Order: sequence, then C-alpha cells, then structure tokens
Amino acid sequence: MSQAARKTAAITGASSGIGAVYAERFAQRGYDLLLVARRGERLQALASALSARYPVQATPLVADLATDEGQAKVAQVLSSDPSVSVLINNAGIARLAPLVGAALQDTTAQIALNISALTRLTHAVLPGMKERNEGLIINVSSALALHTLPISAVYSGTKAFVLSFSRGLQQELAETAVRVQAVLPAATATEIWDQSGVPLAALNPDTVMPTDAMVDAALAALDQGESITLPSVADAALIERFEEARAALFSSTNTGKVAPRLLPA
Ligand SMILES: NC(=O)c1ccc[n+]([C@@H]2O[C@H](COP(=O)([O-])OP(=O)(O)OC[C@H]3O[C@@H](n4cnc5c(N)ncnc54)[C@H](OP(=O)(O)O)[C@@H]3O)[C@@H](O)[C@H]2O)c1
Repeated sequence: MSQAARKTAAITGASSGIGAVYAERFAQRGYDLLLVARRGERLQALASALSARYPVQATPLVADLATDEGQAKVAQVLSSDPSVSVLINNAGIARLAPLVGAALQDTTAQIALNISALTRLTHAVLPGMKERNEGLIINVSSALALHTLPISAVYSGTKAFVLSFSRGLQQELAETAVRVQAVLPAATATEIWDQSGVPLAALNPDTVMPTDAMVDAALAALDQGESITLPSVADAALIERFEEARAALFSSTNTGKVAPRLLPA
C-alpha cells in the first residue's frame, strides 16, 4: 500500500488468543496495526514479530479498557486517526460463576470491558467511518449471547448486548459502506478459560475449536458477506430459522391487546 492509502486495523485484546490471531491476519491483508491490551511486553513482541514478517507498521497501545481512563485514552487515539478503517472489538473477560457469591468487581469488570469499552470505542470511530463512507467493525460476541447458563448470567448478558448492539448498528449503517460483523464463537482454546472459573481441561475437547480456525472461519464469513457469524454452526439454516423466529416473535408483540391466556378468567 502507498503511504497515502495506508489503512490501520485497531484490535483490542491483541496480546493473546483471538485478538493476536486477528492481528496476524490483518497484517497479512496489508493493514498497519494498533494493538491494544494491558500487557505491553506481549504487545511489543507481537508488533515486532508482525512488522518483521509483513510490510506493515504495528504499534502497541497499552491501556486498561475496564477503566474510564483507559477507554478515554484509546478512544482519543482512534477518533483522531483517520487511517483507522477497521476496529476489532475483541477484548473481553469471562467470569463464570453464580452471581450470589461472586465478587462484585468480577461483575462490574465484565460489564466495563465487554460492554462499555466496546461501545465507547465504537462511538470513537463511527462518525469518521460514516463520513468517509468506509470502515469495518468486528464485534466479538459469543455463542453464550444466545444461551444462558446458571454460571453465565453476567457474561451471557454482556455478549447479548454485543449482539443487539451490532444488529442495531447494521441497520443504522445499512445505506452506507460501513460494515459491522458480530462474531459468536463457541468454546475456543484461549487463555480466557484460565481466569474464567471453568478450566479449559474441564470441557470436552471435541467441543473446543483451535483459535486460528475460529478466526479464519470468521474472516471467511466476513468475506462472504455474513453479518452475524457462528463459526462452529454447520447448519446455516438453523441460524436463518432462529432469525426468522425472532423477527416473527417481535412482530407478534405489536397487537395492542392482552394475550387471551392472560385475561381474567
Ligand atoms: N475463548 C473462547 O472460548 C471464547 C468464546 C466466545 C467468545 N470469546 C470472546 O473472545 C474475545 C477474546 O477472548 P480470548 O478467548 O481470545 O481470550 P484471551 O486470550 O484471554 O484474550 C483476551 C484479551 O483481552 C485483553 N484484556 C483483558 N482484560 C483487559 C482490559 N482490562 N483492558 C484491555 N484489554 C484486556 C487481554 O489482554 P491483557 O490481559 O494483556 O490486557 C487479551 O488480549 C473475548 O471478548 C471473549 O469473550 C471467547
């Protein structure tokens, strides 16, 4: 890419797992990289490795996105850099436990990182993307956006937000060239499990996808024009039926009348 045409992909949570793979794949696609996370040494090592392997610039940006200060720092960088044409909102934590007995800090941190940071960074990039009529936002949600376990009230709630938020933006941006993809991985072999309360070793290995395969599938879906991607679901018709049922259920709420089963006997 010429200097004038250089494009940057900003990736949160790039220091490990899914984010680190996205960083590699976007370097491969010729994007300069802005790599965001707390562990600066890992970001620096990845930035050095990728800029040695590909003709791109990679810049680490250390920030704690669960804090107001860290969110503001990254938002400022993103909103002032018109080369940012891709934002991958990937940073996230999972604390899988019943709410009763969980540390309040675990709950608020999940909401701050999985919801607030993602929303704030989207606020930072979207006006510029819309003005330039160009851009891509990938929001990493989870299959648990569609399902809740007794230990995932908060995590599932945060990921359901990411899905709804992405759906709303897709409609808001439908007449523009700015794209939003929501990615809903099922279990993927990353470090997230180490702190989650459920060790990866406790899962059936047959249900866990390698990280590279998950990201490559999500990117294949992106290239095929998918806007909501469940990389491990073989039967695409299931997704279509789910979306149809969801739309039909919503339509059926617009009656202005109490459902007969709820009328006084
Ligand atoms: N692995 C799965 O099974 C799975 C399934 C569905 C969805 N997901 C989603 O995939 C996304 C990526 O997770 P992963 O599985 O790749 O896990 P991971 O390897 O633990 O990566 C999480 C990334 O988020 C960063 N991060 C965590 N807290 C942060 C904070 N306060 N501020 C800034 N960055 C922070 C971490 O970097 P630092 O620690 O250096 O800050 C790390 O780079 C998450 O949104 C997760 O919910 C994962």
